[in-house]
Amino acid sequence: MQLERILHAQGFGSRKICRSMIRHGEVTVNGEICDFPFTEFEPENLRFTVRGETWEFREKAYLMLNKPAHYECSHKPQHHPSIFSLLPAPLLERGVQSIGRLDEDTTGLLLLSDDGQFIHRMSSPKWKVPKVYEVTTKHPLDETQIATLLSGVQLLDEPAPVAALAAEVVSDHMLHLTLAEGKYHQVKRMLAAVSNRVEALQRIRIGRLNLPADLAEGEWRWLDAEMLEAVSPVRQT
Ligand code: URA
Repeated sequence: MQLERILHAQGFGSRKICRSMIRHGEVTVNGEICDFPFTEFEPENLRFTVRGETWEFREKAYLMLNKPAHYECSHKPQHHPSIFSLLPAPLLERGVQSIGRLDEDTTGLLLLSDDGQFIHRMSSPKWKVPKVYEVTTKHPLDETQIATLLSGVQLLDEPAPVAALAAEVVSDHMLHLTLAEGKYHQVKRMLAAVSNRVEALQRIRIGRLNLPADLAEGEWRWLDAEMLEAVSPVRQT
C-alpha cells in the first residue's frame, strides 16, 4: 500500500495533506525519512512516525478511555468538554465513536472504535456484555436493598422490571453492581428505586476487561487482541 494511502487511512488528513507531509520529510518509516508518497509498504504491523509521534498501522481502531468526571460522551457537548477532546486528531478523523455513553458525572471504562459492525454488535440487545459499576451510595446499604436489586426493580417507562446480574457489597456505602443492559441512568434509577442514592459512579469492568489501575483519568489506550476478546459479547439465547 502506498505511504500516502496508509497515512490517509489512519486519519492523518486528505491524501493531498498526507502527500505534502511526506514530501516535507515529516514522516519516517522503520526509522528513516520516506519523502516519496508513493513508496509501497506492507501495512500490517507497520510502525511509522508523523511529526515525531510514533504510530502503528491499525486496520480498525479499538481503544479504551478512563473517562473523567465532567466530560460529556457527545460530539456536541452542552455544558462540559467532550470526551473526544481527550483523543488525538487522527482518531477523530477516523470517526472513532464511543460504545454507549456514561453520564457526565460518571467516571471509568469507556470503549471506542471506528468499526461500525463491532459498535453495532456491542450495542445490540441480542448480544450481552456484563458491565460492573462501583457505586458509592448516600445511605448505608442493607440486605433488603441488595435482594431487591437482584430480584428486579420496576423503572418508570420500562415494560418489565430490571434486575442486576450481581451485587457485591464492598462496604456500608459501596457496592459492585453488575448489569447486562445499559438503560438510561440505569444504576442511578435502580438505586433510587430501592430508596438509596448514587453519590459517585465508576465503571470498573466490561465483559472480562478491568479498568487498568495504571490508566489515569483522561488517558486512553489501544485494545490488544486479548482485551478485544475479553469485551466481545456473547449471544443471548
Ligand atoms: N448508569 C447510570 O446511572 N449512569 C451511567 O453513567 C452508567 C450507568
